Amino acid sequence: MQYQASENSPSRQICDCIVVGIYEKRSLNTAAAIMDKSSRSALSQLARKNDLPAALGEATVLRKLAGVKAARVLVVGLGKKTEFGLAELEKATTSAVQAITKTGAKSVAFYLAENGGDFSDIRQVVFRTVVAAHKALYRFDQMKSKPSKNPSRIKKLILGCADAAACEEARNEFAAADALSQGIALARDLGNLPANVCTPDYLADEARRIGRDHKSVTTKIMGRKDLEKFGMGAFISVTQGAQRPPRLIQLHYRGGAKTDAPVALVGKGITFDTGGISLKPPPGMDEMKFDMCGAAAVLGTMQALAKMQLPINVVGIIPACENMPSGTATRPGDIVTTMDGKTVEILNTDAEGRLILCDALCYAKTFKPSTIIDIATLTGACVIALGDHYSGLMSPHDELASELLTAGVTAGDLAWRMPVAEHYVKNLKSNFADFANVGGRPAGAITAACYLWQFVKDQNWAHLDIAGSAWESGSNKGATGRPVGLLIRYLMNKGQQ
Ligand code: BES
Ligand code: MN
Ligand code: ZN
Repeated sequence: MQYQASENSPSRQICDCIVVGIYEKRSLNTAAAIMDKSSRSALSQLARKNDLPAALGEATVLRKLAGVKAARVLVVGLGKKTEFGLAELEKATTSAVQAITKTGAKSVAFYLAENGGDFSDIRQVVFRTVVAAHKALYRFDQMKSKPSKNPSRIKKLILGCADAAACEEARNEFAAADALSQGIALARDLGNLPANVCTPDYLADEARRIGRDHKSVTTKIMGRKDLEKFGMGAFISVTQGAQRPPRLIQLHYRGGAKTDAPVALVGKGITFDTGGISLKPPPGMDEMKFDMCGAAAVLGTMQALAKMQLPINVVGIIPACENMPSGTATRPGDIVTTMDGKTVEILNTDAEGRLILCDALCYAKTFKPSTIIDIATLTGACVIALGDHYSGLMSPHDELASELLTAGVTAGDLAWRMPVAEHYVKNLKSNFADFANVGGRPAGAITAACYLWQFVKDQNWAHLDIAGSAWESGSNKGATGRPVGLLIRYLMNKGQQ
């Protein structure tokens, strides 16, 4: 994608399509009003006849408007003027791009954000516009024998800006927004690939590729022997039913000073979760190929981070394996020992995410990180609690929690905090080991977080449960690339401190 910031009047802008907006009650946005003037009120006349949209995200394409250089004008509904902010901008941009893909337009100029309010920081306008456009253009057709028909790929995105200073600011942001978009697309691709392709080795190869492409990233791939050496009994208990070998993947990005403690990102990489001996019921089990979306988010974030060259250090750690039932699989009741010497009674082999993560968290501590964030499609209970809109955020540390929540708001990749507290830890009581890997049904997402907490008590740690947000089900089934946006914004903010 090519990017351009332009202070041209929308009427004089040369490109295949101009995008302007209209609020409820037929009120044209600034750019639409300018075009209305140059087209001798063509837009306001259409609006009066109710031929223009008004509801947020509705879009109408007009061709050959008099007095306008571009061949097409797309008018998109912006909803209530008083409520039009970054989230609405993103939605309007998405609809606009979807409508434009049905035309032949290759270069498109966006004139949706107005001065002031939510839009006073042009950098956010750039990020949200660029990311929304890429998301809307994303297609996953790697596994089709013929690529699906996608008539128009937008090749050039022009952002209409108020003045030269705004143009300059916007120009400085395009590369970073593009890097984030590519990171999100990578996370989506990895999530969408089936488990017979996206294996632990595939994730390892992807990490190696990121290392090859960016000299600021080094990688280390470890196997079963290393897990044994580290004493990762919990991780081993999950992989032991599978034929495919496990991988412990490590990526190290060095953008900060040598002495800066790194941020550790730990991503759950179950490439397929059958549940193991505690086998899952058949309906929807195909969606358990998405059980590595935490790992995918770490890879997408590491790639974006390296492209953006943020001035910080970050380690990505991905425990990757399959959770399969077989003659060598873990049985309910088996007791294993974790890397830090705790014993765990595995009462349910389907609660496998926390088993690979507890060992990976112990391993993360060896980097003496300033912060550890784990990202996991950890519990169905989180989907019940929050649905797909918010990721679950659990952290006993108020400052870290608020930094992550804020990053989510800025990025439009929202999280909602749930408690981590001793109160829930007693659910994990075992008669035979230090604790069990499951509690009861109540507060399932919190109990899972509290299990992980036992391994990072002395750390500045947060857990993101992305079971609801990492992919969509139904007719739009597919990975969302979340929470790469949240993580990158958090790391960008860190880099500015
Ligand atoms: N990967 C699943 C969580 C999941 C389920 C995510 C459905 C998205 C949709 C995880 O490994 C799992 O199976 N968790 C169990 C835990 C339970 C046994 C305590 C669950 O949520 O049912
Ligand atoms: Mn499971
Ligand atoms: Zn799982």
